[in-house]
Amino acid sequence: MSKNISRDKKLIAGNWKMHNSIKETSQLLDDLTKEYESIHSEHVEMVVCPTFTSLETANGKLNAQKSGIKLGAQNVSWENSGAFTGEISPQMLKEHGVEYVIIGHSERRAMFGDNNETVNKRLKNTLKNNLKPIVCVGETLSERENCQTDKVIKQQVCESLKNMNSFVANNNSDSQLTVAYEPVWAIGTGKTATSLEANDVCKLIRTTLSGMFGEEFGEHTRILYGGSVNAKNASDLFSQTDIDGALVGGAALKALDFIDIYKAAIVNTNCR
Ligand code: PGA
Repeated sequence: MSKNISRDKKLIAGNWKMHNSIKETSQLLDDLTKEYESIHSEHVEMVVCPTFTSLETANGKLNAQKSGIKLGAQNVSWENSGAFTGEISPQMLKEHGVEYVIIGHSERRAMFGDNNETVNKRLKNTLKNNLKPIVCVGETLSERENCQTDKVIKQQVCESLKNMNSFVANNNSDSQLTVAYEPVWAIGTGKTATSLEANDVCKLIRTTLSGMFGEEFGEHTRILYGGSVNAKNASDLFSQTDIDGALVGGAALKALDFIDIYKAAIVNTNCR
């Protein structure tokens, strides 16, 4: 991870969650590509993360369209093959053109048993297989109300990235870790952290990473904000010094909304 150079570009990632059939995936990608082609910038990456069952279709479309939109998945196994019912390995994702993987989304943590330990295992296997992880962290409403945000975030970052030093030292690949700060109370609720609140936590994540892996690493790691990002609040968020893009849920399901968020990132490419 020592060559973490990804912060040179902002990243707008769409987490489609358990939405969109194969037909709907096709349609949404057609609509997105049509708009993206005329406005895209080399300074901002766009990633879409459909369900596993739509990856094949999405990969075919994105290859045929040659638009430069990249493909991500919503989870990955810490194992590579074997008797792990319901799991999917990094290599299987790569066969479908997947480049990015969301790890430890709060919905996985809250409903499907993911925790810092499993996130750490998924992350190690993701990096070993040269996929690009987007590791999610975020506090709940009660944690925020009890002034626990900083403590919880630091703990999530430290434990999710635990024992990575030997991996960092031995790894020659450009692994491009991205961290997404997603306050749980802001996801799908229409409530966003103010841009200053979001920036403060993103800054805390950066200092925590610097403390763990060195200042250069922290400074070059891309940190996204996620939680009710939309076309109206995106520009304000992206104008902050430590927010390098967004992980978008609801607004990623409508091509024009997602494109507007992408455009807001282009306008704010120099905000550091
Ligand atoms: P939201 O979801 O944009 O709908 O709040 C974000 C996410 O869950 O990643």
